[in-house]
Amino acid sequence: MIKIHDKVFKPFISHDRILEAISGVAERVNADFRDCEDVPIVLCVLNGSIPFTGELLTRLEFNCELVSIKMSSYQGTKSTGTVLNMMGLTADVRGRRVIICEDIVDTGNTIVALKELLLDKGATDVKICTMLFKPEVYKKDVRLDYVGMAIPNAFIVGFGLDYDELGRNLRDIYVIDE
Ligand code: IMP
Repeated sequence: MIKIHDKVFKPFISHDRILEAISGVAERVNADFRDCEDVPIVLCVLNGSIPFTGELLTRLEFNCELVSIKMSSYQGTKSTGTVLNMMGLTADVRGRRVIICEDIVDTGNTIVALKELLLDKGATDVKICTMLFKPEVYKKDVRLDYVGMAIPNAFIVGFGLDYDELGRNLRDIYVIDE
């Protein structure tokens, strides 16, 4: 058990299991992109996706460029429903294929807004790649191209995921103990 701010969390997904899921995702991304002639953009959605994107990146077997963007729809343990673009893209995506790397897809508000933003800015193709997915909460019909692991609808922290900015540094993933 660990305590972050006012809440208690219990172990949920081990570091090894997280890495296994990321290796599975990397295999599928490689299968689709290995022989590509363009240089796709791997887009890290800051801050939560930093550990995931880092691990994924070292498993990719094609030339790719790392770009970041900061989005946010969460306050505390709840999605606000409004997706804010907190920081612009760190590079131009016009004419490029983009692979979005998300830590977790919950309602899908963030990922769908981000996909639209990228297509708006001239990306030629946008693939969605997420480490974790909460299918019970997802309300969109946009297809998730690569999913590491589906999990139940519960609030989690660790391996990049935070509760009011704390917990990102945890090696394992923890679930709220209610
Ligand atoms: P969505 O827009 O509802 O799909 O939410 C996606 C974003 O909310 C993720 O990128 C995370 O930053 C955050 N988020 C969703 N679920 C959790 C969770 O269980 N713990 C921590 N952050 C979460």
